[in-house]
Amino acid sequence: MLSSKLKEITPSYTIGISTKVKELKNQGLDIINLSIGEPDFFTPSPAKDHAIQAIQMNHTKYDAAAGLLDLRKAIQNKLDIENNVSYAVDEIVVSSGAKHAITNTLIALLDHGDEVIIPKPYWVSYPEMIKLVGGKPIFLNTQRKNDFKVTRKEIEQAITPKTKIIFITNPSNPTGAIYSKDELKGIVDICLKNNIYILADEIYESICYVDSFTSIASLSTEAKDITITINGLSKSVAMTGWRIGYSATNMVLAKAISAIQGHLVSHPSTISQWAGVSALTSCQTETAEMVHTYKTRKDLAISVLKKIESIGFINPQGAFYLFIDISSLKDKFKWHHSFSVAFSDILLTHGKVAVVPGIAFGMDDFIRISYACDTDELLEGLNRMKTFIENL
Ligand SMILES: Cc1ncc(COP(=O)(O)O)c(C=O)c1O
Repeated sequence: MLSSKLKEITPSYTIGISTKVKELKNQGLDIINLSIGEPDFFTPSPAKDHAIQAIQMNHTKYDAAAGLLDLRKAIQNKLDIENNVSYAVDEIVVSSGAKHAITNTLIALLDHGDEVIIPKPYWVSYPEMIKLVGGKPIFLNTQRKNDFKVTRKEIEQAITPKTKIIFITNPSNPTGAIYSKDELKGIVDICLKNNIYILADEIYESICYVDSFTSIASLSTEAKDITITINGLSKSVAMTGWRIGYSATNMVLAKAISAIQGHLVSHPSTISQWAGVSALTSCQTETAEMVHTYKTRKDLAISVLKKIESIGFINPQGAFYLFIDISSLKDKFKWHHSFSVAFSDILLTHGKVAVVPGIAFGMDDFIRISYACDTDELLEGLNRMKTFIENL
């Protein structure tokens, strides 16, 4: 018999879509996949070369649970220079991806029944991670007029004596919205007043199309103390498979996270960590080129979407997604459980384009597309979607 925890866990929508796409492709169908949340670029050479060197130099033994000192120093330097926040090396823990850094944090902070506020739309894995460690996700509605960024007032209304953490994804997956400094100050203020931790998921921080990005921890010493800064190399340096993420927190929490990680997995692969050192110190040009390409694709995608009258979308300021409002098409579909799933299924089978239904992010009137894919494929996929919607 499986653990009762698993009764509440929803299988991943995104993995379900990938499986369907594979099946259809195996049948010989020409499918354009706009559902993937992974850079289409290869890992830059400096990172790959450093990993090969690490193997040849036999850097293949156990190391510190918190991560290689060289990598933590590189992260410390990056946070200092790029994010304007200074952490001690021992306040940083390197984990197997941002996902793992978040899970470690939740294990360290949550007691059974503790509440975690998740503003909608949210990244698919948050609720399941929280439930798996015995916490209670509290979903918070946000407003379209604010690009679905949560406000101080909305948070205030969701707080209970059991609230322990709020998740802020900045830039957002799925909307690409970025919080301004003033918006973040309001959030910090309410969290400080109510003793709530802020889990600042900044994994898309380097994919930013606006002039300035503010890390929550950089706002003040008090803000830094209650913030868990989560970041990693999956998106910024196209290193999804290497599994390198990290948390930067206050010292007490960092020690707890390191102890948890030490018992569960020891530490992420040392080879990946050596690659990470070069990713952070020698791949800035490659990251800038990728961001430039994403921006070009974003502008291209928007120019097509603007021509489809019956939809709307959030103008992204970062990340590589577009969150598209399809609510005006509701009366053209029959569905039982979810409109966005019905729409996405029919778009896949009839329009030959794979997208992620908005229900995966808690909002059934939307779909998400990714522009982390080849530019020609993106254009073809969008044109197919346009034809599909216009012929409904
Ligand atoms: C918002 C957000 N956080 C975290 C992650 C996980 O990243 P990693 O590959 O570092 O585990 C993702 C990946 O899609 C994400 O979109």
